[in-house]
This record gives sequence, C-alpha cells and structure tokens, in this order.
Amino acid sequence: MSKTRIIALFNQSGGVAKTTLTQNFGYHLALKKRRVLLVDMDPQASLTTFMGLEPDELNQTVQQAIVDNKPLPIHPELIHGMALVPADINLAASEMQLSGAIAREYRLKNALATVQDKYDFILIDCPPSLGLLSIISLTAATHILVPVQCQFKSFKGTELLLNTIASVRSHTNPALQFAGFVPTMFDGRTAQESRTVKAVQEQLSDIGTVYPPIPKTIAFADASERRVPLVLFEKNHPAVGVLKKIASSLEKLEP
Ligand SMILES: Nc1ncnc2c1ncn2[C@@H]1O[C@H](COP(=O)(O)OP(=O)(O)OP(=O)(O)O)[C@@H](O)[C@H]1O
Ligand SMILES: [Mg+2]
Repeated sequence: MSKTRIIALFNQSGGVAKTTLTQNFGYHLALKKRRVLLVDMDPQASLTTFMGLEPDELNQTVQQAIVDNKPLPIHPELIHGMALVPADINLAASEMQLSGAIAREYRLKNALATVQDKYDFILIDCPPSLGLLSIISLTAATHILVPVQCQFKSFKGTELLLNTIASVRSHTNPALQFAGFVPTMFDGRTAQESRTVKAVQEQLSDIGTVYPPIPKTIAFADASERRVPLVLFEKNHPAVGVLKKIASSLEKLEP
C-alpha cells in the first residue's frame, strides 16, 4: 500500500484560506525534507499564481490529465522545494467536458497513481464548490482537511460539508479519512471571535481534530502577492509558529 498522504483542502465556502494553507503547509512539510506535490484543482488558479506561475502562459494544466487522460503535467522545476501541477481558467470547462464520462470521479486518483510514490505528501487545493472538481479531488484523497473561518456563519456550511464527505465515502472513496479542521483568520482581539473559536473547538472536536487557529493578518496577502510562503516573507511572523505546528501534526497522519 502507498505511504503517500494525499490531503484535500476542502470547504465549499469561498475565501477561507484553502489556497493559502495548501501553499504554506506544503512549504513547511518540504522544509522538513518531505517530498511534496501541490495540485491546483481550482479554475481560479490562485495556487498556481501564489506559486509564481502565470496561468495564462501555461501549455499544460491538470485539465489535460483529468479530461484527456494525459500524464499529470508536473511543472518541470520545483518551486520553493515543492512540485506543482498547475491550473488555469479552462479547468472550469472540465465539469461539462466530463459529463457522461464513465468513472469520471476517479480521473485525478488515476492520474496520481502513476506518480504518487515519488511524494510523501500531495496537497490538493479544491475549488469553493460542491461540484465535480471537488468530488474528483475528494475521491483522490486519503485525507480531507477543512479550513473554517472563525465566524458564526461558518457553522452553517458544516452540515453540507459533512454530507458531501459522507456521500464520497459511500460512493467513490470509502477509505477517506478526516484530518480535521483548521480555524482561520482568527482575530483574538474581539470577544465574539474568541467565543466563536471556542464554539468551533467544542462543536467540531466531536467530528475531528481541531487544530490551533491561524491568526488573522494581512501578511498572508502580502506574502502571496510576493508569491512566497509566509515564512519567506516574514520569518518571525507569529503565524509561522502555528503553521509549523499544524504541519508537524499532518506529518503524523496515517496513510
Ligand atoms: N490568516 C489570514 N488572515 C488574513 N487574511 C488571510 C488569512 N489567510 C488567508 N487570507 C487572505 O484571504 C484571502 C482568501 O484566501 P485564499 O485564497 O487562501 O482562500 P480560499 O479558500 O482558497 O479562497 P477560494 O475559495 O476563492 O479558493 C486571500 O487574500 C488571503 O491572502
Ligand atoms: Mg482557493
């Protein structure tokens, strides 16, 4: 059996830091000499951009692998020590292109099967939807990791999210494990947010591990604008310690 941990960062809500965390956890795992592959499964291609590539200038993206069954187009150079399968906006058409295709949910799983032994961790950045691209990602994954924003509205989507996981488990990926929740954008200065993070911890810890909250800071946006992980932008930023700690926990996940 493969030892590779394939972690899908998933939440159908938009803007909860899926892409930011994919890049930063990947980087901290790479710093620990883990072989890391990042896969951009979002037509918005934010991960591709955060990693310093121009989506408009790419010849090959993950789309060719999942729609045309071509080999997975891994970028020829490591970026910050990580391998990357990029995306571009054309990926948006793939849901339609795959309609009616047999076993379409397994397209990424099959594409990864030929390369996964070269990596210790494969992190999949999912789009903010419950559509086919997310299902394809969750079908390929060994684990799901869910960033949740520290706000009351975040709870509303949780049931939908859990139903999706249950559905994937019963149809395409019975072995999918729940790696846990990462509370994000935590602003400890407001009493309401402190209460929310407590509520997140209390209510969600029955379902899975709740990792320490990632503080809210503009430094994440600044770092991605510079196309680098946070620690390369500001080495001693307080959020770096939290990222490191969670990355260490991810290392301990059972394949
Ligand atoms: N801890 C944080 N504090 C403040 N801003 C953050 C934090 N984490 C991420 N951000 C910012 O929030 C925005 C959304 O982050 P990101 O793109 O990672 O979310 P996402 O869940 O991938 O979004 P989408 O659903 O659109 O794919 C970005 O501008 C990012 O820099
Ligand atoms: Mg994203």
